[in-house]
Amino acid sequence: MKMFPDLRLRRLRISPEIREILQETNVRKEKMIMPMFVDERIKGKEEISSMPGIFRYSEDEAVSKAKEYEDLGIKSVLLFGIPKVKDELGSQAYDESGIVQRAIKRIKEETNLIIFADLCLCEYTSHGHCGIINGQTVENDSTLELYAKIARSYAIKGVDAVAPSGMMDGQVARIRKELDTNGFKDTIIMAYSAKFASPLYSPFREAAYSAPSFGDRRSYQMNYGNFREAIREIEEDIEEGADIIMVKPALFYLDIIREARNRFKYPLAAYSVSAEYSMIMNAAQNKIIDLDSVIKESTTSISRAGADLIISYFTEYIYRNRIF
Ligand code: PBG
Ligand code: ZN
Repeated sequence: MKMFPDLRLRRLRISPEIREILQETNVRKEKMIMPMFVDERIKGKEEISSMPGIFRYSEDEAVSKAKEYEDLGIKSVLLFGIPKVKDELGSQAYDESGIVQRAIKRIKEETNLIIFADLCLCEYTSHGHCGIINGQTVENDSTLELYAKIARSYAIKGVDAVAPSGMMDGQVARIRKELDTNGFKDTIIMAYSAKFASPLYSPFREAAYSAPSFGDRRSYQMNYGNFREAIREIEEDIEEGADIIMVKPALFYLDIIREARNRFKYPLAAYSVSAEYSMIMNAAQNKIIDLDSVIKESTTSISRAGADLIISYFTEYIYRNRIF
């Protein structure tokens, strides 16, 4: 066996040029997806206080922002909606003239961006849960019917991919069936497959006013102590017809991303969530870390773990500042 002093691994790190050509993982920014909040209640745009640099956009503003993204070279966006009115059933989520539906139609008409749209109820329900409430419980099967309606309303407007994030059992199968029977065989499903119940979503919930008014999401989102169960969740979504699988959050879950990459042949997305953004941004603003270097390291790490697509609030920054 070749050992020191014959073996000298430092030889391969001797100059910037050598290090560069030997780098194993190279992030392709084209594979990054930029999340966008479209807010029915505002004019212009509004910065999200817990996520400096990230905004909620009115419909018009979202369309011009999308054009700006396209000019920058960004390939895809993930839309979230904030409705004017919320109710018990989250009916604005499946209204054909709801905020996301309008945004899908216009961005589709005016750009060539790939449009992913988050499919859930929590931004639209008065109680902030991701499904229909019966007493204190979130009902699974009746919720699926509403998810089907949301999927259809997005597909009618020309969405490229729906992204169900509610973690109800059977959601992918129910949505696939709805799409297929309504003539939308080509609409992609990107399933939030292994989505963990995480405090890292709290800036998002502030952004979208979607925190649950009672209890929490642990009866549907996963326990972060569970690795094998995450694999079962992904298997379930694949069986049900998911086209793209997802692990969320990303940075604390690189083991799950790696395992999913090794086990499954499907395109794999990783969602670097709101607090991953806020934590890095905050530390950088307080001069504790260097922003560009940490964006580079964290994004490369998610890619090295095996993600094909990376959903990140840093996408716009990465393009603007040529981080990759
Ligand atoms: C909706 C949804 C959430 C996120 C994506 N889709 C919030 C939640 O589950 O509470 C979180 C994204 C983020 O934190 O960036 N269910
Ligand atoms: Zn939800």
